[in-house]
Amino acid sequence: MRIIKTTGQWRAVRRGLEKKGLSIGFVPTMGALHEGHASLVRRSAKENDITLVSVFVNPTQFNDKNDLGRYPRTPEKDAALLEKCGADYLFAPDFEELYPDEYRYRVSENRDSLVLCGAHRPGHFDGVLTAVMKLLNISGADRAYFGEKDYQQYMLVKGMAEAFFMRTRIVACKIVREADGLALSSRNRLLPARDRERAPLFHRHLSAGANARQSRRMLEKEGFAVDYVEEKWGRRLAAINLGGVRLIDNVEI
Ligand code: PAJ
Repeated sequence: MRIIKTTGQWRAVRRGLEKKGLSIGFVPTMGALHEGHASLVRRSAKENDITLVSVFVNPTQFNDKNDLGRYPRTPEKDAALLEKCGADYLFAPDFEELYPDEYRYRVSENRDSLVLCGAHRPGHFDGVLTAVMKLLNISGADRAYFGEKDYQQYMLVKGMAEAFFMRTRIVACKIVREADGLALSSRNRLLPARDRERAPLFHRHLSAGANARQSRRMLEKEGFAVDYVEEKWGRRLAAINLGGVRLIDNVEI
C-alpha cells in the first residue's frame, strides 16, 4: 500500500490508473480504524480494481473542540489494518492540503442536515459535506462506500452527490456490531469500563421499543442521557451521551 500526502501526488497516480481503464473505489475515514471501517474497505476491494482510503480527522465537522482534541489517532495500526484489508493507496492529507481556502467555501444542506444529529451539533454536517465533496472530487472514484452506522450522513452524502451531478456512486454498507450488539465506533475506546459494560443496552432498547417514544423511555429509565430517538427513512435513529462520550445508532423498522 502506498501512502499519499498531497492531491498532486494522487492526481498523477490517478492519471495512470485511468489510462489503464482501472476502476477506483474510495473509502473516506477519520482513522482509529476498526472492523466497521474494514468491512467497507473489503467491499471496495471486491467491487473495484483499485481501492483508495483516506484518513483525515476533519476539524470543520467537530462543533466541540474538546471532542476534536481527544479524537483517537492510531496511524501505524491504521496502515497495518488497511494493508490487510486490500487497500492499495492511503491518502492522508494535512489541513492546508484539503482546505487551501481555509473553509471559506462550504457545502450546506438546509433540511435534513438540521434535524437529528444536526439539531444537536450545529455546523456538523456542513463540515462533513464539505470534506466529503473535496475528497470525492480529489479521488475521482467510481464508487464510494459509507456505513449505515452514520445513517443521516449517508443520506446527506447521497443527496449531495445527486444534487451536484457528481460522477461517484454512493454505496451503503451494513452496520458492524460487537458480539454484544454495540455498534463499532472509534469513540467506543473512550468509554470508561463501567459504561462500556452498559453500552449494549443502547442497541437493545433501541430495537426493543414498540415505537421511538417507548425506546426513549427505556433508555432514560436505564439512566442514559438521551439526545434524541426519532423515526425517519424507515429507521429508528438515536444518540445518547454515555460517560461523556456521544454514541449514535439506528435500526431498521
Ligand atoms: P468515520 O467515523 O471514521 O467513519 C468512516 C466510515 O466508516 C463512515 O462511512 C462510517 O459510517 C463507517 N463506519 C463507522 N463505524 C461503522 C460500523 N460499525 N459499521 C459500518 N460502518 C461503519 O464518518 C466519518 O468518519 C467522517 O464523517 C467522514 C465521512 C470521513 C468525513 O470526514
